[in-house]
Amino acid sequence: MADLSVNICGVEFKNPVIPASGVFGYGREYEELFPLSKLGGIATKGTTITKRTGNLSPRIAEISSGMINSVGLQNPGIDYFIDTELPNLMTKDTVIIANIAGSTVDECVEIARKLDNTDVHMIELNISCPNVKQGGAAFGTSCTSAENITSEVRKATKKPLIVKLSPNVTSITDIAKAVESAGADSVSLINTLLGMKIDINTRRPVLKNNVGGMSGSAIFPLAVRMVWQTANAVNIPVIGMGGISSGKDAIEMMMAGASAVQVGAAIFTDPYAPVKIIDEMNEWLDSKNIKSVNEIVGSVEIW
Ligand SMILES: Cc1cc2nc3c(=O)[nH]c(=O)nc-3n(C[C@H](O)[C@H](O)[C@H](O)COP(=O)(O)O)c2cc1C
Repeated sequence: MADLSVNICGVEFKNPVIPASGVFGYGREYEELFPLSKLGGIATKGTTITKRTGNLSPRIAEISSGMINSVGLQNPGIDYFIDTELPNLMTKDTVIIANIAGSTVDECVEIARKLDNTDVHMIELNISCPNVKQGGAAFGTSCTSAENITSEVRKATKKPLIVKLSPNVTSITDIAKAVESAGADSVSLINTLLGMKIDINTRRPVLKNNVGGMSGSAIFPLAVRMVWQTANAVNIPVIGMGGISSGKDAIEMMMAGASAVQVGAAIFTDPYAPVKIIDEMNEWLDSKNIKSVNEIVGSVEIW
């Protein structure tokens, strides 16, 4: 068995596979299927300062090789998360990453401050949600605003800070460098790509929000390209995601430069996907006689 453990910003992960924010809730439904301790970590559903009911339905639809969603950050708010969900998650023997979002910089700062007083292992600041009217991707699509929100949240917490980047930009490396200079300890990418699906019979968009974020296998090569570019542009660890659905996808993402991976939409078609991905990575590494998964990080040999 290969050594799958990775260390990101001083935090030890038993393996590099993490269910992505928004597809795993707080793990409660999944722990009926497998022990959460099998996972490298868990990125929790994006938490805002107060409860949000999200956008109107329909807000999820299938597309070729993936899905499009406009959930709009439905969540019970930071106090509920800290009082009710976090204590349960902290007993699961896996790394807990609290994903946070806000309509304003001050909201994100306040959430980070509250989390700083908890035992949560890491904070993932989402500056890339395409489905909210205020904040969200607006923070992540200009270097100035990305840098500003990162430096303000940085001041509010000593926890390792991951900043989650939007692919809906001209140059993801410029944004990555901006958040690195503002104190991010790591970047994660990619969030969903803004898309649209129209029902040609009703001539209506299938999502009530008209547009939504694309995820799943359809976006995998795009995510690999962005992770590769970003890993070559910054000196902080990159957590790669976007369309990963197999152990081989995870290996490819790590060869592109990811130190760990997150798995999103694939969990909706197969709730066991993260566990299968861990097993498949192990098998592949063993078949190549590679002793540690760290050996493959950034190992792509470009032409
Ligand atoms: C239904 C749904 C909800 C999501 N909610 C969040 C969220 O709350 N915060 C966040 O940072 N990303 C959220 N995401 C984005 C995912 O974490 C991930 O970045 C994206 O889906 C790409 O990965 P995938 O192709 O493996 O799904 C959500 C994605 C989906 C499909």
